[in-house]
Amino acid sequence: MKLFIKKPIAQLMAASKETEKTLKRTLGVGSLIALGIGAIIGAGIFVRTAAAAGEHAGPAVTISFLIAASGCALAGLCYAEFASMIPIAGSAYTYSYATMGEFIAWIIGWDLVLEYALGAATVAIGWSQYFNQFLDTFFHTHLPFVWCHSPWETNISKTGMYINEAHGHGIINLPAIFIILMLTLLLIRGMAESAIVNNVIVIVKVAIVLMIISLGWQFIHPAFHTPYIIPANAGKVAVSTGVIDYADTFNHGWLGVLRGASVVFFAFIGFDAVSTAAQEAKNPQKDMPKGILISLVFCTVLYVLFSHVLTGLVSYKDFLIQGKEASVTYAIKTAMPGYNWLANFVTIAILAGFSSVILVMLMGQTRVFYTMSTDGLIPKIFSKLHPKHRTPYKSQWLFFIFVSLFAGFIPDTIVGDMVSIGTLFAFVLVCFGIFILRRTDPGLVRPFKTPWYKIVCPLGAIICLAMIASEGVGNWARLIVWLLIGFIIYFGYSIKKSHVRHGSIDVPSDPPSPQYME
Ligand code: ALA
Repeated sequence: MKLFIKKPIAQLMAASKETEKTLKRTLGVGSLIALGIGAIIGAGIFVRTAAAAGEHAGPAVTISFLIAASGCALAGLCYAEFASMIPIAGSAYTYSYATMGEFIAWIIGWDLVLEYALGAATVAIGWSQYFNQFLDTFFHTHLPFVWCHSPWETNISKTGMYINEAHGHGIINLPAIFIILMLTLLLIRGMAESAIVNNVIVIVKVAIVLMIISLGWQFIHPAFHTPYIIPANAGKVAVSTGVIDYADTFNHGWLGVLRGASVVFFAFIGFDAVSTAAQEAKNPQKDMPKGILISLVFCTVLYVLFSHVLTGLVSYKDFLIQGKEASVTYAIKTAMPGYNWLANFVTIAILAGFSSVILVMLMGQTRVFYTMSTDGLIPKIFSKLHPKHRTPYKSQWLFFIFVSLFAGFIPDTIVGDMVSIGTLFAFVLVCFGIFILRRTDPGLVRPFKTPWYKIVCPLGAIICLAMIASEGVGNWARLIVWLLIGFIIYFGYSIKKSHVRHGSIDVPSDPPSPQYME
């Protein structure tokens, strides 16, 4: 059995020619960077930063961002080489099928579900927190704790906006499911991501980050930055999902900073979205690596400055209790007198910004499964197009259910960690893959070559593996279970149905409508 059978590049090109009929090459490097930033800035910076600072890294979450960014940059270089080898729209799944073979492609495609589908769930949970903040600010009301939290969370501290509520468990996160439903309906109707809307949202998101940095800087309390790294004797704090004991290995010191990196790694996820627009790029070979790397560097600078300000406004411990939800709004309202207008603006902008991230992720998910389905690796239902809108509507509905189960019933810390570990694992495979391909297929045309690949590939893999190692047994177990389910499907179904393996070529005669429009 040839586990690593490859998809012929000619076949990929044939499929891409078909798609080309519907897509125009209109995106320059500027639009690609905007697309990258649009997908990158989201719940990671506005929700997960506070969680990483509160639980693991304290003010040194800035260093966590640098560690996560270096892992992403190194893996990003490998990613760019990967994407440039095959100048068609696709994901790591498509590229690995042609270069590393079906089994690795399956693992990566299966793993991307953690990145895209659970990524959408995590951002939807963050959306729910800011939605409640929105109701509180503008209508002086909010949804009761039980209707916007998972059953695994308890309103133990009766703080934040739930101060007068009874002590109790959550039941379901309704706002999170609501936003997923709305965006699913839009996607089914064939909502392409409009470049204009995306650019406006990018400008707003970057503007709020810059405003918080510049206006908040003067309110930084040096005392909150001392000590910069959490000491082991920082104590214990009861939180909605249990107790945080700072004496635990990954809750203080440098290991806490590393664990924080795996949490804020979420904030960088999405830069690979640039590669999915390769076919709509004017000059994919040159502009894609640029788009990926420039958006990454830009966001890193913003993130480090932003997290420095955020942890200077209030104590990192606040992010476990009063400031656990809608943390940015909380910090502004608490520490920046006279800036309530900024808190209100931030709340609204975040609601819009998160929606665009969820949209991109839900769309990315169904597009990856669309391709896997046309390859025969998963059932045909995932490539069934709507007769009028030409969108994979059945797949979209199935993912609505899947994503809602996570968004509605699991706490964001667990879902977010699953996203991070799944994506980190995919990055490790890409780093190894590029290294091996350089040795096994030196003759492949590589319009973009990872510089110093002998250092970059292993170092990228090591940094990502270190972050995975810090995630702890629970997260490793979840990743292993997910991969095992994937193996059962692959060996029980996909291997028997694979078109590449059984000679049938399935070039869709009428592909789905484009994802991105000028
Ligand atoms: N990077 C994206 C976010 O932070 C996934 O929301």
